[in-house]
Amino acid sequence: MEGALTARDRVGIQDFVLLDSYTSESAFLDNLRKRFHENLIYTYIGTLLVSVNPYKELGIYTKKQMDIYMGVNFFELPPHIYALSDNAYRTMLMENNNHVILISGESGAGKTESSKKILQFYAVSCPRTSLLDNVRDRLLLSNPVLEAFGNAKTLKNDNSSRFGKYMDIQFDFQGEAVGGHILSYLLEKSRVVHQNHGERNFHIFYQLVEGAEDGLLRWLGLERNCQLYRYLVQGQCAKVSSISDKTDWRTVRKALSVIEISEADTEHLFGVIASVLHLGNIRFEADARGYATLNSSTEMHWLSKLLGVHVQVLREGLTHRKIEARAEEVLSPLTAEHAIYARDALAKAIYGRTFAWLVNKTNESLANKVRLSSDYTVIGLLDIYGFEVFHVNSFEQFCINYCNEKLQQLFIQLTLKSEQEEYEAEGIEWEAVPFFNNKIICDLVEEKHRGIISVLDEECLRPGEASDLTFLEKLEEKLGGHPHFVTHKLADQKTRKTLERGDFRLLHYAGEVTYCVVGKEHSSWQSKNSIVKHCFPSIEPDSKKRPETVATQFKSSLAGLTEILMSKEPWYVRCLKPNNSKQSGCFDDVLVRHQVKYLGLMEHLRVRRAGFAYRRRFEVFLQRYKALCPDTWPHWKGKPADGVQRLVIHLGYRPDEYKMGRTKIFIRHPRTLFATEDAFEMCKHKLATKIEACWRGMQARKERERRTWAVKVIKRFIKGFMNRNQPVCVDNAEYLTFVRQNYLIRLKENLPKNLLDKNTWLTPPPIMQEASRILHHALKLSTGATYEILFPECNSHHLSQLQLKSLTSALFKGKKESYPQSVSKPFVATRISKEPFGKTVLEISKLNVLVVKYDRNGFRPRQRQLVLTQAAAYLVEEAKIKQRVEYGSLKGVSVSHLSDNFLIIHVSCDDIKQKGDLVLQCDHLFELVTKLSMLANKASAIKVVQGSIRFDIHPGKEGFVDFRSGQETMVYRAKNGHLMVVSVPYCNSATINAFGGVHRPSRHIQYYNANMFTIPMSTH
Ligand SMILES: Nc1ncnc2c1ncn2[C@@H]1O[C@H](COP(=O)(O)OP(=O)(O)OP(=O)(O)O)[C@@H](O)[C@H]1O
Ligand SMILES: [Mg+2]
Repeated sequence: MEGALTARDRVGIQDFVLLDSYTSESAFLDNLRKRFHENLIYTYIGTLLVSVNPYKELGIYTKKQMDIYMGVNFFELPPHIYALSDNAYRTMLMENNNHVILISGESGAGKTESSKKILQFYAVSCPRTSLLDNVRDRLLLSNPVLEAFGNAKTLKNDNSSRFGKYMDIQFDFQGEAVGGHILSYLLEKSRVVHQNHGERNFHIFYQLVEGAEDGLLRWLGLERNCQLYRYLVQGQCAKVSSISDKTDWRTVRKALSVIEISEADTEHLFGVIASVLHLGNIRFEADARGYATLNSSTEMHWLSKLLGVHVQVLREGLTHRKIEARAEEVLSPLTAEHAIYARDALAKAIYGRTFAWLVNKTNESLANKVRLSSDYTVIGLLDIYGFEVFHVNSFEQFCINYCNEKLQQLFIQLTLKSEQEEYEAEGIEWEAVPFFNNKIICDLVEEKHRGIISVLDEECLRPGEASDLTFLEKLEEKLGGHPHFVTHKLADQKTRKTLERGDFRLLHYAGEVTYCVVGKEHSSWQSKNSIVKHCFPSIEPDSKKRPETVATQFKSSLAGLTEILMSKEPWYVRCLKPNNSKQSGCFDDVLVRHQVKYLGLMEHLRVRRAGFAYRRRFEVFLQRYKALCPDTWPHWKGKPADGVQRLVIHLGYRPDEYKMGRTKIFIRHPRTLFATEDAFEMCKHKLATKIEACWRGMQARKERERRTWAVKVIKRFIKGFMNRNQPVCVDNAEYLTFVRQNYLIRLKENLPKNLLDKNTWLTPPPIMQEASRILHHALKLSTGATYEILFPECNSHHLSQLQLKSLTSALFKGKKESYPQSVSKPFVATRISKEPFGKTVLEISKLNVLVVKYDRNGFRPRQRQLVLTQAAAYLVEEAKIKQRVEYGSLKGVSVSHLSDNFLIIHVSCDDIKQKGDLVLQCDHLFELVTKLSMLANKASAIKVVQGSIRFDIHPGKEGFVDFRSGQETMVYRAKNGHLMVVSVPYCNSATINAFGGVHRPSRHIQYYNANMFTIPMSTH
């Protein structure tokens, strides 16, 4: 409520308790009307919810709305049925007790709609597990099924509940809906056989005829035309524009399967419904003696088929009555008039029992299969037929209105009681409020030996002929003089004119109702029809026992209901009907005023207001208004009650304006609260401005501090920079630390990737020169140490060796298959043991090694030596230089990616002295190529190639060497003129490994041409 108080002028008052002129009915109505015209249909009286039927969709029942109301305190949001539902639910969980929501109001006021909204709220917003989703679906879908069978169009309401319904929704301790149970009360069975003008039979009949599939109709012997069935046309409104029987039929069919009614049961169910329609069409004629005879053979055929009763039994049942004389049963024929009555009684009995069966089935499906009964709490929903007055009111209306009378009694008792208890509990003086207690009317109906029901019982059960008039006489005798009971005989002159002789009138809490006694004694009997026994053998009561009248049964069931309701914490929804024409936007003052009066809303309001209009727990009140007093703001350390006391004294409450209870503060007048609320509104603005100013000040101070700090840092930095080359002193110490740190961080991120990478070492600032040198050396040592482990015998030259090996790795690692085998073999200066060269050559050579050179034309193999010097590579045969390749004219070196040991040295063809590219085979391929690339400084020109390598035979003529893997090492000139080199893959090279590290001598290399001839290597 507090949250919405600012809007109170615009849309009236959201809680009547805060209405200043709370005793004025007009003020009450004004507020209701004002809100109604703003589409605000809900208003509170404390925790009671008043709801006015809008007769239109308002868009206030969306999932979003549910979310808004979930877990929010009752008064924090505008009134809504969801707020009430949510609060009942949360209180149930918190206090672990059972609750009930009592929905009342006259027919058409919106009770059933309200109960559906509540159910939907629980189904959507309670925590869910997939296991329990079924329970929710069934809870929701039990509604359309029971409505189809138990609701009908009346003059008051197109979907009027013609039975009373109390439904328990069971929740486990976590708040999940785990099951449900329905109790139904007195179905208005007379509707099955008779409808007033403008009314219909139960929806299901029309749904079946209009909506059922052709096959089903055929099977039931029905035709798609309601006009053909006498039970459907008496009200002359089988079709209603606001009702879509076809759509509703589909919903019901689906719902039946969700609530687990099997296909077979569904068929039987419709069979029974159809049988009622056939029964209605049965006609009787009187024979010469006036006894009923039957000639509706088609109907009899269908009845027999659908009810499973033999035609003869049917015939007897419809035209005869069984009389028990001593130990014998005698059949006595019925007159045509009595036979019609018997037929209708049968139809009602069949329908009534089918309805009971359906409720049972629904309960089986809703039964909680998860938790023990002690493990759950319930929220009950009571949606019962509303008070109604028709032109002709029969026994059913009597029961319906009696039921409403009882509920009103309960309401008066409970609301007065709870209010009184609260004052007592809080130690506050209670002032009694006069109110009309309808106990006198309840007694008139139900009192033992004197009440109307007692008289009815006596009349029905006494031997001899009972008639409507003897019953009336008995009533007059017993109840004459009762202020709420009038008959034609008892009435004064004026009233007598409005009463028929066979009528009696009751002055109910909600208004006068005239009941017609004709037919009463019949309708109050249990049916004893033999056909019913056949159809429902299991539930047919023991006929030996004296039967209870329907009225007595109803009285007992209402007593049971009262007990159920009394044992739970009640919440109230009072539904009002804005007009009698079911129109939206039309607010009939007289009609609403009447309902407000008889529903006791003014009394309820007076009771709520008698003591104090508003009450709140100390903690809540203090939390909300603490800002209004400097002593309680921002925190109150003491007891909440003391804080509230201090607060209200500061606010200037007069002692008669409030009372301090034990846990709550009670405020007598709404204006006191409004003044407080207004003060709070003002204070909120001031507080907001103050908080904003503080916040801005704090931000500005922070910014200033930041800037001051920045200026200091920059100044120090500049000074440090200016003195950077001075010995460390106060002025530059910080700067130099920064320079050091900065250099080390950058160095860490830019370390050389390998030993040979000499150029990427970061140039140090002067202050870090020495440190840089030491670090560089340390890095070399640590990297080299790894290789030292691999080459322990090469200690003296390990650095150059490592450099070479590192270069080999960069050139071939991961590129050439045979590289891994080369890693463990140290590089040496000479590979030729027998010295063919002079000493000088040896001195200047960087590598000499045995190779096989393949002729560029014809690929004849020749054994040669290759000598690398600082400036050039020499191909030598027996100390005779055959070819000289200057490094300057070296274009590149290509090798394959396989395990072979071929290399092609590409030379520049511009040089006419050059003979062309060299195709060589060398056992020390990696060593040769590495040294060559290093001497010629052409590491980037070394290519590891996949597939063929093209080379220049001489300028303008090209040749190719193709490479592939095979089982055996082979070199031959292929048919396409290419040199084909076949190598054994590394993993298959068992033969190579079998040489135990001694490389396979080149002499063994076989040379194949197309004729596959072999030439020893030494041959020129
Ligand atoms: N909250 C609502 N929003 C929109 N329409 C409503 C609302 N409540 C009721 N109605 C309309 O009013 C009609 C009658 O309401 P409902 O069936 O709930 O009355 P009832 O009080 O259950 O009457 P009865 O006692 O005859 O069963 C509904 O069919 C619907 O058209
Ligand atoms: Mg209803």
